[in-house]
Amino acid sequence: MNILVTGGLGYIGSHTCVELLNKEYDVIIADDLSNSKEEVLDRIEKLTDKRPKLYKYDLKEIEKVEEIFKENKIDAVIHFAGFKAVGESVKKPIKYYCNNLKTTLNLLEVMNKYNVKKLVFSSSATIYGDPGVHEYKEEMGRGKTSNPYGTTKSMIEKILEDVYASDNSWAISILRYFNPIGAHESGLLGEEPNGIPNNLMPYIMKVAAGKIDVLSIYGNDYPTKDGTGVRDYIHVVDLAEGHVKALEKIEKDGSGKYIYNLGTGTGYSVMDIVNTFEKVNNLKLKYVIAPRRPGDLAEYYADPTKAKEELGWVAKRGLEQMCKDSWNFMKNNM
Ligand code: UFG
Repeated sequence: MNILVTGGLGYIGSHTCVELLNKEYDVIIADDLSNSKEEVLDRIEKLTDKRPKLYKYDLKEIEKVEEIFKENKIDAVIHFAGFKAVGESVKKPIKYYCNNLKTTLNLLEVMNKYNVKKLVFSSSATIYGDPGVHEYKEEMGRGKTSNPYGTTKSMIEKILEDVYASDNSWAISILRYFNPIGAHESGLLGEEPNGIPNNLMPYIMKVAAGKIDVLSIYGNDYPTKDGTGVRDYIHVVDLAEGHVKALEKIEKDGSGKYIYNLGTGTGYSVMDIVNTFEKVNNLKLKYVIAPRRPGDLAEYYADPTKAKEELGWVAKRGLEQMCKDSWNFMKNNM
């Protein structure tokens, strides 16, 4: 089976390519290298002895998308490609709406034309908005998003709903990620954000590596166990395995529309992450308590029951492993 993986050289995409190749799927990658490096392809090859075909294309150009489908018999698509920096999306909404929506619409249009109707889509827990409870369940539906990045995810979910409603021969699996961290245990794949990181773990790694002086902990006065924000951190390899399970289900069922939370079901605070990172890697992180970051919620985590029951998927890797693997990747790539 030929799987087109858009954004396949990115953080979650690259780990998913490895899991797919290990399961004997054939992988074709489309990636414009806007937040990834071509070297990741060598690393995927090193890990799997297989080198996926790479299209260095910007999917905003529909002719380029069509070229991929003309040249390859694609059976299904896993769509990761997209801009994902929350703060940047507030400053540059047009860039985010234009990129994330246009690439997806182009992809859907071409998939429809070539009768390729199996799609796994990268969504996010951010689409729940602020539902007033800590444990998020799929049936709660989409809430009011707090930034343009989140709104693009929510809009794409709606578009996919409409596509399926118009034509039930589509098979669509929407995966709502919680907070992916960690790296491949080989140290060859991991998260390498351009510039100053926004997210907690990439920031911690830069502080641990001495590239940034101090970590700011955004608020210690939340109504949580230690006052710092609580999230559901999930190992990126567990997340990658979730994509393979989602793909297997739509292949088996042939058609249908599904939504799954991919999280562990456990919330950890910022201080839990800092303390565990220090402990397992035997180092000290310099941090200060800073004001709350606008738009942040105090606490949320997944109810992952549906993915367990319907996909047979559970996250297996714990927080210590996530912290160890993240740092191992950073050490190998400094
Ligand atoms: N945090 C800090 N200091 C930092 C960075 C983060 O204290 O330098 C705290 C935040 O306040 C929050 C926690 O660490 O409590 C996690 O923050 P992240 O920025 O790592 O992640 P978010 O939960 O804010 O957002 C992430 C993704 C979004 C996605 C969302 C889905 O970045 O893309 O999860 O739940 F939409």
